[in-house]
Amino acid sequence: MSRTLLPRFPVSSVRSMTATLARVSQRQIVLKQQGGFWLEVKRMSRRAFVLGGVGLLSYLYFETHSISVKRYTIVIPNLPSDFRSFTILHLSDLHSKEYGDSQSQLVDLVKKQNFDLVAITGDLVAKGNPEIGPAITLVSSLKPTPIFFVPGNHEWWTNYQIRSPLQSLGVQILENSSCKFHRGHSHIWILGVDDPYLGRDRLDTALVNVGSAPRILLAHAPNIFPSAVKSSIDLVLVGHTHGGQIRLPFLGAVVAPGQGFFPKFDYGMYSSGSTTMIVNGGLGESVLPVRFNNRPEIVLITLKSG
Ligand SMILES: [Fe+2]
Repeated sequence: MSRTLLPRFPVSSVRSMTATLARVSQRQIVLKQQGGFWLEVKRMSRRAFVLGGVGLLSYLYFETHSISVKRYTIVIPNLPSDFRSFTILHLSDLHSKEYGDSQSQLVDLVKKQNFDLVAITGDLVAKGNPEIGPAITLVSSLKPTPIFFVPGNHEWWTNYQIRSPLQSLGVQILENSSCKFHRGHSHIWILGVDDPYLGRDRLDTALVNVGSAPRILLAHAPNIFPSAVKSSIDLVLVGHTHGGQIRLPFLGAVVAPGQGFFPKFDYGMYSSGSTTMIVNGGLGESVLPVRFNNRPEIVLITLKSG
């Protein structure tokens, strides 16, 4: 009986080949699974990127277009009783910005507030957009409340074209001058200096003939503060910084014009001696139309006697 001789493989080789094939096949499955995983991660990253982008843009839009109302109560020791609860609406740095058709969002918000006087601390217009219409619409809506104005750097950088229209609306413009403001049988002093950022302020000139009644000083920029403290001004209202536009939690503004990085007087209330200063975060922006952690604002300051 003939025997066909078949090639013989050792059993160990067959086992080894089977194991190798199994490992290859397992590796392919793992690779396929890994590939699917990365594809899924990639898809999710793209989705997260798009959603994150939409979220960030929505937040930035909200930050620049939703106006907040900031309130302060300031104690002035010798405040006459006629001025108790006297409230000032402080507006600053509109920079020709429009909030809705015919400034409707801003005007509607202002009309919901109660105030006795309006203080506007400059930069109603912008060097890059000298259009006075948005500012004039806003100011017209504030009448018949007494309105005081001091110019900022952007007024001077646009040839101060808004000066005459403001005067025509009855706005009292203070450029290193003062006004005795009466209420009942009493008075306080409203003073205003020309722009301290441009070095045009002359507080000594504004103080000529000013008596001992409470003194409220309007200025565009906060570098007036040391002079105001020396002159025993009770309350100083300024703007210019826009709160730095981008504010980091706990650290505040990253940079402000005229003060450099991490500015000292970037936003809010500061006190020294008998003087309190309020730095308004402003309504508009300059350089870049961006705000972070720092909405545009209108400010209401109510006076109290000590
Ligand atoms: Fe300014």
